[in-house]
Amino acid sequence: MRQRVLVASNRGPVSYQVGADGTLVGRRGGGGLVAGMTSGLAAVAAQADVTWICAALSDGDRVAARSLDAPVGDPEDPGEVRVRMLDIPPETFDRAYNNVANSILWFTHHMLFDTPNQPQFGFEFRRDWDSYLAYNQAFADALAHEAAADPAGRIRVLVQDYHLSLVPRLLREKLGAAADVGIAHFSHTPWAPLDYYRMLPRQVGQALLDGILAADHVGFHAQCWADAFLDCCAQFLGAEVSPAGRVIHAGHVTEVAVHPLGVDVPELRARAQEDDVRAHVSALSQAADSRRLIVRVDRTELSKNIVRGLAAYRELLATRPQWHGRVVHLAFAYPSRSAVPQYRAYIDQMAGIAGQISEEFRTPDWNPLVLEVKDDYARSLAACTLADVLLVNPIRDGMNLVAQEGPVLSERGCALVLSREAGAAATLGDDALLVNPYDVSETAEALHQALSMPDSERRRRSDALAATAAACPPARWLGDQLASLDR
Ligand code: F6P
Repeated sequence: MRQRVLVASNRGPVSYQVGADGTLVGRRGGGGLVAGMTSGLAAVAAQADVTWICAALSDGDRVAARSLDAPVGDPEDPGEVRVRMLDIPPETFDRAYNNVANSILWFTHHMLFDTPNQPQFGFEFRRDWDSYLAYNQAFADALAHEAAADPAGRIRVLVQDYHLSLVPRLLREKLGAAADVGIAHFSHTPWAPLDYYRMLPRQVGQALLDGILAADHVGFHAQCWADAFLDCCAQFLGAEVSPAGRVIHAGHVTEVAVHPLGVDVPELRARAQEDDVRAHVSALSQAADSRRLIVRVDRTELSKNIVRGLAAYRELLATRPQWHGRVVHLAFAYPSRSAVPQYRAYIDQMAGIAGQISEEFRTPDWNPLVLEVKDDYARSLAACTLADVLLVNPIRDGMNLVAQEGPVLSERGCALVLSREAGAAATLGDDALLVNPYDVSETAEALHQALSMPDSERRRRSDALAATAAACPPARWLGDQLASLDR
């Protein structure tokens, strides 16, 4: 009998727009979670029936969720993943996603609050929290519905990220103790240290931990995030935590483990050979005109620390004039979460320092900085293939795929300037130039070192980084979690 795997995440593998003629045009969903899960599921879907439950995000998604009334994808094709979109009432979705998940939980785990002013947990937050609960309940109901549709055999459920922290608990309650269901929860973000986590209202902090701990297996990209989670379980919730990373809470044992997510190297390299990427490679190398390239590719996201990255580049140019005319910084910062006011303000800050760099250093025949905010995946891949230096300096990051994809794509070897606070630092740290993301001068010095090192060393480091990224492909990341559920 074929096994069943259910995936639940806020953002799904496909997103719809309503075309000019009223038809729905689907395109692949964005972000690291979707990329890793989609790639990982390719192997699983050949042997199991996979259904991916996600929220309808765009107007097109809502139309798709209502009008198709049946799962998107072809359930007859064993390689297909069935997608079921949840048409959650817009106001509930907005409060759960923007006000709780993105403005509170994301800020907590990435330590982004401007603490003299934020957070403030008043009556509006309590109202938003009710919506977060309702949104999580909608996912739990949909998962339970899917599980009930096929009662024979064990079902494995993979719940993703901070949006859905309450789902394991709500799903267990819905299915009852007798159900043969294995539940895993995976966090693609960091986990906040106890002292920061304590800012959350007690009941909220407890509900999030209790919700996740109803899973059988809980995963993180890096040991430091797993340790922070275990600390919160012990100190905030009062759960029993064993040195081996098992948590006993409410009579249930949860295994906490680390599953770093790397890159599917053959798939990524094949994509980089396609015509659209090659066209961008030609255009970018022509524009660079043999100058060194410092590349960054991010969403315009507070945690990505783009403004300090630009400040470090400015400091490099201000303090090491030998690079004038010899280097170009390609900074790709694609739009993200524009419904959150801090993100809109951040775009202005980025533009401000970019303007300052141009004003101070630009000459008639040298443009030191290209800041691009229009999303273009093919151009990003092209920039990575050409980079001499890749700058990845997040304040905190669950893992960071760009730090791994860059060296895999690099054609002549690239040096990686990497924040010590990215989960990827745990695996890539030996071959990267690690920096404190708040220290702009240290980052400028690392950029200088990365530009100055002999080509042979850049090549050696890049090959080592690519080999590390290749060691944890998405199929393994997912396979290990499924295997844990079967133990
Ligand atoms: O890091 C967690 C994560 O869910 C990633 O998978 C993804 O890149 C990002 O956050 C997505 O954010 P959003 O769906 O809000 O654009």
